[in-house]
Amino acid sequence: MPPHAEAPVRALSWDGEQLLLLDQTMLPHEERWLALRDAEAVAVAIERLAVRGAPNIGIAGAYGLALALTGRPDLGTLESAWERLRHARPTAVNLAWAVDRVRDAALAAGPARMAAAARAEAQAVHALEDAASAALCTAGATLLAELLPRTPRRILTHCNTGALATGGAGSALGVIAALAGHGPVEVLACETRPLLQGARLTAWELGRLGLPHAVLADGAAAGLIARGEVDAVIVGCDRVAANGDTANKVGTYAHALAAAAAGIPFLVAGPTTTIDAALPDGAGIVIEERAAEEVTHLGGVAITPPGTPARNPAFDVTPAALVTALVTEAGVASPVDRATVAALLGPSA
Ligand code: MRU
Repeated sequence: MPPHAEAPVRALSWDGEQLLLLDQTMLPHEERWLALRDAEAVAVAIERLAVRGAPNIGIAGAYGLALALTGRPDLGTLESAWERLRHARPTAVNLAWAVDRVRDAALAAGPARMAAAARAEAQAVHALEDAASAALCTAGATLLAELLPRTPRRILTHCNTGALATGGAGSALGVIAALAGHGPVEVLACETRPLLQGARLTAWELGRLGLPHAVLADGAAAGLIARGEVDAVIVGCDRVAANGDTANKVGTYAHALAAAAAGIPFLVAGPTTTIDAALPDGAGIVIEERAAEEVTHLGGVAITPPGTPARNPAFDVTPAALVTALVTEAGVASPVDRATVAALLGPSA
């Protein structure tokens, strides 16, 4: 870590009775903590992006289901809270994966032990994501250091994929932070319209990490890549299909096209919990459409003429052929295709 760096923020924690979340809608202006005690409050926090990032919405959802059973440990409560949480956001597979795990554990334990089993399983999901983040950050940094011998290594990223978004230190941003241990790094953080996860959250984390960085408009990325000002692009992922097609924050696909045109590496980093082995390819990934106001307004102020319609897909899909490597805690897939993705999941998948 650079000399003045702070430890990665822990944006989500469980104190045994409640889920504590750093409200990411308030950053970078205010560090406000939410203390959530029921599944509905957790579902709403996920929907409004108070907690966000594929692994973290899974962890939050898991605790949300455990909270539901704390008050009423019965089958009806389990099923309704599971339904509500599972559908709070559709694109990141981590949410469905995590709440399914907690539901299965609760059902297996039976009524008398349901609540305790759900809490234990939520904590297991959290621990698993922490460990995955640590392993993939090391693997990704080693790979990037090998691919890019010259320093400073100039890395472009999109959205927020740091400790705010995952267990542990992050995925793509965690890799960048670990890469700083291999030599100087300069980070270009795309602002990430419309909700500005890059400008608000990634810049906040990079400041805490003490890493040199600059924020840029999303539309500036391709031009800088083409001019040779970027050595590699690394992003996170919300759902990776069995063939390696990758859904991530809207705007990612454009960066992948620019990286391919310029012949620089385009890496995707994420835990294997983000791989949806049941989905053959990216065409089947449900893309969340969010409210038009997120596009037509900025900080609550309208930036379009009244009544202007807007489209607001929150994610896009990058074809596997454009991804140089998929970095996970189970290893690196490169090239990214059906066989290499299956190899990450092992024989049981
Ligand atoms: O809508 P968000 O902010 O939850 O989107 C987050 C992303 O797209 C991240 O890149 C992805 O979840 C990976 S986080 C490790």
